[in-house]
Amino acid sequence: MKEGFKKYQYKELEDSAILQNSITYRNNLENRRSIRFFSDKPVDKQVIENIIMSASSAPSGANKQPWTFCAISNPEFKAKIRKAAEIEEYENYHGRMGEEWLRDLEKFDTDWHKPFLETAPWLIVVFKSAYDVDSEGVKHKNYYVNESVGIACGFLISAIHQVGLVTLTHTPSPMNFLHEILGRPENERAYLLLPVGHPSDDAEVPILEKKTSDQVIKYFE
Ligand SMILES: Cc1cc2nc3c(=O)[nH]c(=O)nc-3n(C[C@H](O)[C@H](O)[C@H](O)COP(=O)(O)O)c2cc1C
Repeated sequence: MKEGFKKYQYKELEDSAILQNSITYRNNLENRRSIRFFSDKPVDKQVIENIIMSASSAPSGANKQPWTFCAISNPEFKAKIRKAAEIEEYENYHGRMGEEWLRDLEKFDTDWHKPFLETAPWLIVVFKSAYDVDSEGVKHKNYYVNESVGIACGFLISAIHQVGLVTLTHTPSPMNFLHEILGRPENERAYLLLPVGHPSDDAEVPILEKKTSDQVIKYFE
């Protein structure tokens, strides 16, 4: 064994089990939806830690893990974030998004009001780090930062769904206010804002069509 390496522990499965797993996994993920109506039912901090650490196990360019997850349950922080997000979203819905974008959003029946930012028991704000700074103040490069953080967010959204909770991938842009409210360092930029919790009893989701396998897969066999 090369120094710095260890044997990968691979659990070999029968083909039939792999097929069954793929069906189960697909069915489960196809039930995920973005939720915009939350109940205030609490979620254990350990659950939040587990889903974030699941996300943080994601692959990243040169294993730099260029992400920070702020997990917020403090009502004062949530209120500040809602207020600042609604200021940006008001501008977005009143001119900044443009006609085509607003038309594309009609089916979601969304507007600049974001009450879920206070109702949901937790907000997770994902920050990406363009570079890292060590204890001596020296800057170190990160690689494929957008791809890496996007993959980690995919892991996060999947984990939230797998454990039985719901979320919304939210981008009240520009999101610089999150950097300020949460006092993050210069090298970090807000990437996504995810309310996490249980849906309200009357939560509705728009009926959306997902692309078919023919549309998204091109086989070369
Ligand atoms: C990068 C990204 C940004 C998004 N931003 C918002 C947002 O700011 N507000 C919102 O209500 N939904 C937002 N969404 C949610 C999408 O509208 C939603 O994922 C899409 O309509 C598909 O619905 P589904 O997630 O229920 O399958 C965003 C999704 C992504 C991937």
